[in-house]
Amino acid sequence: MKLFIDTAEVDDIRKYAFILDGVTTNPTLIMKSGRKFEDVIREITSIVDGPISAEVTSLASEEMVKQGIELSKIHRNVIIKVPCTVDGLKACRELTKKGIKVNVTLIFSANQALLAAKCGAFVVSPFIGRLDDIGQTGLDLVEEIVEIYKNYSFKTQVLVASVRNPIHVKAAARIGAHICTCPTNVIESMFRHSLTDAGLQKFMEDSKKVKK
Ligand code: E4P
Repeated sequence: MKLFIDTAEVDDIRKYAFILDGVTTNPTLIMKSGRKFEDVIREITSIVDGPISAEVTSLASEEMVKQGIELSKIHRNVIIKVPCTVDGLKACRELTKKGIKVNVTLIFSANQALLAAKCGAFVVSPFIGRLDDIGQTGLDLVEEIVEIYKNYSFKTQVLVASVRNPIHVKAAARIGAHICTCPTNVIESMFRHSLTDAGLQKFMEDSKKVKK
């Protein structure tokens, strides 16, 4: 499974670049960075050599296509995020026809994922944490999408998004999702285990007692 980071904080991206296959951003994350949209995306492309999702902010398909074309000029790795609406999927179809890769975002049902695949999406982003938040099991949706895509050999990849904890990551990998995008704190927690820390501490102490 490919691992993406879900942030617009370039210091975090730099820190974990050695294990990252790509980056996802959204307007909220860019807003939190306090920087200009294009500056952030451009800088990210210089750190990670993999798909970098940049989201359109218009709601009408024609505008989304125009914006998507402009964003795709920033760097060959920029992929265009469009929302899963009628206009968004229309834009997905148009951008895909032009050879521009699209991430259909805000996916909350298997039928939305089916439509996105039929429109040629490069990836779809089911938001599992937000489903968990309202009492639905986000990972069930990932299972459904993976199954449907396998049934019809769709090339669209499943990018698990809105990840809240390391259990989400492990489960996504067991289901066979292609990609999981994680906030920085989840990536950090994947490295850690208390027995690793305790074991290392003991080895360090004992190494000082080794005869010279
Ligand atoms: C994915 O591309 C989104 O940026 C992200 O995963 C949304 O996560 P949230 O529900 O934690 O905002």
